[in-house]
Amino acid sequence: MDLLSLQRTRAIRTPPPAARPQINGPRIVGVRPDSPFQYYIPVTGVRPIVLEVSELPSGLHFNPKTATIQGRTSEPGHHKVVITGRNVEGQHTRELTIVVGDGLALTPTMGWSSWNCFNAKIDQELILNQAQAMVTTGLIDHGWTYINIDDGWQGGRDADGRIQGGANFPDLRALGDAIHGLGLKFGIYSSPGPKTCAGFEGSFRHEAQDAQSYAEWGVDFLKHDWCTAQILARVRRLGGYTALLPDRERAEVAALGVEIDTLKAAGISDQDSEFKNLLERRLAIVLKQTTASERLPIDLAIEQAPYRLMGEALRRQGRDIVYNLCNYGQWNVWQWGPQVHAHSWRTTGDILDSWESVEKIGFSQNGLEVWSAPGRWNDPDMLEIGNQNLTPDECFTHMTLWCILAAPLLIGCDLTSMDAFTLSVFSNDEVLAINQDPLGRQGNRVFLRGQIEVWRKPLMDGMTAIAVFNRGEEVADVDIAWADLHLNDQVSIRDCWRQRDLPQLAAGLKTRVQAHSAELFRVGKS
Ligand code: GLA
Repeated sequence: MDLLSLQRTRAIRTPPPAARPQINGPRIVGVRPDSPFQYYIPVTGVRPIVLEVSELPSGLHFNPKTATIQGRTSEPGHHKVVITGRNVEGQHTRELTIVVGDGLALTPTMGWSSWNCFNAKIDQELILNQAQAMVTTGLIDHGWTYINIDDGWQGGRDADGRIQGGANFPDLRALGDAIHGLGLKFGIYSSPGPKTCAGFEGSFRHEAQDAQSYAEWGVDFLKHDWCTAQILARVRRLGGYTALLPDRERAEVAALGVEIDTLKAAGISDQDSEFKNLLERRLAIVLKQTTASERLPIDLAIEQAPYRLMGEALRRQGRDIVYNLCNYGQWNVWQWGPQVHAHSWRTTGDILDSWESVEKIGFSQNGLEVWSAPGRWNDPDMLEIGNQNLTPDECFTHMTLWCILAAPLLIGCDLTSMDAFTLSVFSNDEVLAINQDPLGRQGNRVFLRGQIEVWRKPLMDGMTAIAVFNRGEEVADVDIAWADLHLNDQVSIRDCWRQRDLPQLAAGLKTRVQAHSAELFRVGKS
């Protein structure tokens, strides 16, 4: 082992899983009445493990061969299902609440996405290899579920306008079947514009058809981007703002050369600089003549319309498709995402594989917690853990922060070549449980002391998750009085990363935090 690998292995905090069974994953899942239900039971412990499931609503059954609960149910309500796992070492029983109703994504989405490490250089075999690695690495048994293809799968449309996979994706339905066969779920990507961000075919004017194709392929998740929808939105805004102007100014705008539609009719594309210049010149005039508050309703309606179109199309399908918006946080998307039927929305621009990017994006989320709840999550973008540039300490910060934020967790590295350290960061059930806590509260900052930040997330059982971050360049000893956390004394302290209880301290919490690193605790009455 070279020195770097040795250091990374030494940095591992997560203890190996216990030999006796431990059921992991979310404690609550949502399904719409009569939609196909598939839930693989994540469980660690020495094999063989015999699983038993009782109290299932009618229409759902447990398949012990695949460790999966499946079927369709039309019984609405909260169904408390009891799952027991047994092996030679012991047994574990846990309740899973299946909510049959309108809500999906009742805990943040956990899975993998192709973009951060492969960009558009993807194909069907690569995706399937990642899905298989999700199983062989054991990540599936810690609750990781979705295998999401990002940009780069699309070919053209057939004579009837139906979207086709490119030459690199010859059979998307077969891929969906294979992913489901592994106990996982299948995600895909599109854009409301004519083209996606990487220049592939988008869903513009084909929303209903595309939603239907996704359902036929067995898609369970859609990330809907923005990019080329931006220029369409600007054209529509110009129209909307111009209508606000008095006659004279309206004429002035119109007099600005050829009509945009004429340009389009002449085959000049939305991306053409002549088109863009004209648009910008006209916009400059109307911006001067109108106020932001006059324009806001127009802006919102224009931003929401394409997302609502796809959201409604997805809802019409006979399967549950979790819907993720990717407009980079424009127009306060967190305020209206649920109105267009979305379950999560990106709150920022793209994350990069660097400490600066992770830090800038992650810590900027404070304040957005009021907009997050089960089925409506703020998404600060996919994980960079396991790629080239983050140190082990920075990986602890990235994971701890995304867990305290109740952010969707989408791994962005190559699952087929993770080292032991990376795998250990993704396999810590106590850390993941903070992210997946059924109360679904997004944490926020309680205080800032120089480079030290302390964040808090309330949990379902009345306990509190406390994260301590050191954004500085030096190791720090941090002392936090219970009063600072609005807790009284006599609390139990659990170190989540190392999965061990710490001695109770009357005064508060003391911890050492390495530079760029983080610690995560679960505190409360024991
Ligand atoms: C945008 C998104 C990224 C990724 C790329 C794909 O930049 O924000 O997450 O999906 O498009 O082209």
